[in-house]
Amino acid sequence: MNQKTEFKRVSQSATENAKIVQSKDINGQNRLFGGRLMEWIDETAALAAMRHCGGLVTTCAVDQLVFEHGAALNQVVVLKSRVTYVGNTSIEVRVDTFVEDLETGDRFSINHAYLVFVHVDDSGKPIPIRYGIKIESDSEQTEWDNAVIRSALRKERKVYNI
Ligand SMILES: CC(C)(COP(=O)(O)OP(=O)(O)OC[C@H]1O[C@@H](n2cnc3c(N)ncnc32)[C@H](O)[C@@H]1OP(=O)(O)O)[C@@H](O)C(=O)NCCC(=O)NCCS
Repeated sequence: MNQKTEFKRVSQSATENAKIVQSKDINGQNRLFGGRLMEWIDETAALAAMRHCGGLVTTCAVDQLVFEHGAALNQVVVLKSRVTYVGNTSIEVRVDTFVEDLETGDRFSINHAYLVFVHVDDSGKPIPIRYGIKIESDSEQTEWDNAVIRSALRKERKVYNI
C-alpha cells in the first residue's frame, strides 16, 4: 500500500507542542475545556501533516476522541503528533497528549487521537501527496497496518452515514 517512489521518515514530520493551561482554557469544573484540547490536537496534527506533504492540508475527519484524564490550571500539556499512514491525497496522523510533571519530567497520558487530513491546493482541491512513509520500526509498521483497518472502517461509515 506504501505505493510511492519518494519517502519521508516519520521523524521528519513528527511534531511536539507544549501549552500551559491558563484561565482562558478552563471550564466550569476548573479543568481544561475539551474544545480547547481539540483545537490543540488539530493544530499539532496539522503541523505534522503539512511537514510531510510539504504544503497545505485541511482537516477531513477526527476519530473517536477519548478524554482519559483532565488537566488543571497551570499544568503543562504536551502534544506529540506523528504520521501513521499516507494515501493518495489523504494522510493519517496520531496525536498523543500528556500532562507533564514539572519536577520529575514524567508525562501522564490524557488523550490519544487519530485525524485524517487531505492535501489541498490553494483553492482547496485535493492533490496527490508526493511522499510515502519510510517505515523504520515495528511500531511504525503496526501503526500503518492498523491505519489500513481504520481507513476501511471510515469508508464503510461514510457509505452508511453512521
Ligand atoms: C476534505 C475534502 C477536501 C475532501 O474532499 P472530497 O471531495 O471528499 O475528496 P475525495 O472524495 O476525492 O477524497 C479525498 C480523500 O479524502 C478521503 N476522505 C474523504 N472523506 C473521508 C472521510 N469521511 N473519512 C476519511 N477520509 C475521507 C478519501 O478517502 C480520499 O483519500 P485518498 O485520496 O487518500 O484515497 C472536502 O470534503 C472538504 O473540503 N471538507 C471541508 C474541510 C474543512 O473545512 N476542514 C476544516 C474543518 S472546519
